[in-house]
Amino acid sequence: PYVIGKDCVDVNDRACMDVCPVDCIYVGDRKSYINAAECIDCGACEVECPVEAIFVDRKARGDSERTEFVEDQKNFFAIVLPGRDAPIGAPGGARKVGELGVDTPFISAYDA
Ligand code: F3S
Ligand code: F3S
Repeated sequence: PYVIGKDCVDVNDRACMDVCPVDCIYVGDRKSYINAAECIDCGACEVECPVEAIFVDRKARGDSERTEFVEDQKNFFAIVLPGRDAPIGAPGGARKVGELGVDTPFISAYDA
């Protein structure tokens, strides 16, 4: 699947969301996150991002910084939002859940 990397942090432009055919890009607080269980690898988002923050995960091999973002993107969907009893998981569409307003601890503390 595709991954949103460091250049999204504090930009969070969301142009990628508009072109995703399966609406699997979820908006956090400082950045957005692609749901790997829902992404169909179309690649439309990669070319749309104005800061080129998106990459395909196989291009993270051997790049420790990118690898951290691959792992972190998984961790985002394991977050349990306040008042919920289950993780974010794979909700089946970002628009209906709206902006989630949270980030992983790694992103919250990330020095962009
Ligand atoms: Fe981020 Fe680029 Fe999308 S800045 S929200 S990955 S368009
Ligand atoms: Fe959507 Fe990008 Fe995957 S446009 S389907 S998140 S490759």
